[in-house]
Amino acid sequence: MAKFEFPSEYSLVSNTDLLSPEFFTGREIELSVLRDVLNGVKIEALPSGNIDVFNEKYGGIFQSVEHPKWVIQGDKGIGKSALAIEYISKFRKEYDLIWWIPCSIESSIVESLRQLCQRVTEKEPENLEEPFPTELNTYLSNQKRWLLIYDGLNDPKLTKYLPSEMDGHCLLTSTFFEWTDSANVMPLSAISEKHAVELVRNYISEDDSELISKFTKLLNRNPLSIRQAIDYTLLNEYKLNDYLESQIKGNIEYSL
Ligand SMILES: Nc1ncnc2c1ncn2[C@@H]1O[C@H](COP(=O)(O)OP(=O)(O)O)[C@@H](O)[C@H]1O
Ligand SMILES: [Mg+2]
Repeated sequence: MAKFEFPSEYSLVSNTDLLSPEFFTGREIELSVLRDVLNGVKIEALPSGNIDVFNEKYGGIFQSVEHPKWVIQGDKGIGKSALAIEYISKFRKEYDLIWWIPCSIESSIVESLRQLCQRVTEKEPENLEEPFPTELNTYLSNQKRWLLIYDGLNDPKLTKYLPSEMDGHCLLTSTFFEWTDSANVMPLSAISEKHAVELVRNYISEDDSELISKFTKLLNRNPLSIRQAIDYTLLNEYKLNDYLESQIKGNIEYSL
């Protein structure tokens, strides 16, 4: 018998307390869509304005299977983990358990599942042959208000660590794009021009919006590239203009 019971008053079992988003901008529609789809709303039933935005920006949302495993899919640095962290901070009250599972190496998945099993059942997983601990499986199949986040699950071989069909929510972030049989896909790409400008202004004071816009466009509005380029300019005491000029010069020389 599991020792841990969900208390009647709100209390969260979580390993995500230290994952507070630093500065997050935009993605309102993505957050709202994510909440709906995780809760089982069918694509056809989403607010039509939201679907239109998704179709236009990302070419659609792909609900191929009838279960609540969703993948935020997109290039490195595009903001998949940041979106997942923002989702947690916005909707944490809807869950009794939120567990973040870092997937960059296999052993970190195993360790994270072991810790979760230990935390909720007060037992170590016994059958180490089972990728998803049996005790945890039993425990979670009796609960609904839980969310497991598999962050950076880029290798499809690691899907053996996902839970089987259950009532909770399972969210993945991944650069892998062929999920057709095993999960539904919410694609994510560049942040909007407006939010890219906001992101830059969060780190440096620059009045010239057009200049910022050019700068972010050069970086394909990828938030990680933007942040790295800003760090670079700050470190070298560059102005944005210097950065742009050096990049443009660099590109021209490179292409010759
Ligand atoms: N919407 C956003 N607003 C502000 N910062 C963001 C946003 N999206 C991403 N970032 C920042 O950009 C960087 C890369 O994002 P991250 O989520 O780690 O990318 P990914 O998981 O897709 O590789 C992080 O430092 C993150 O905080
Ligand atoms: Mg990530």
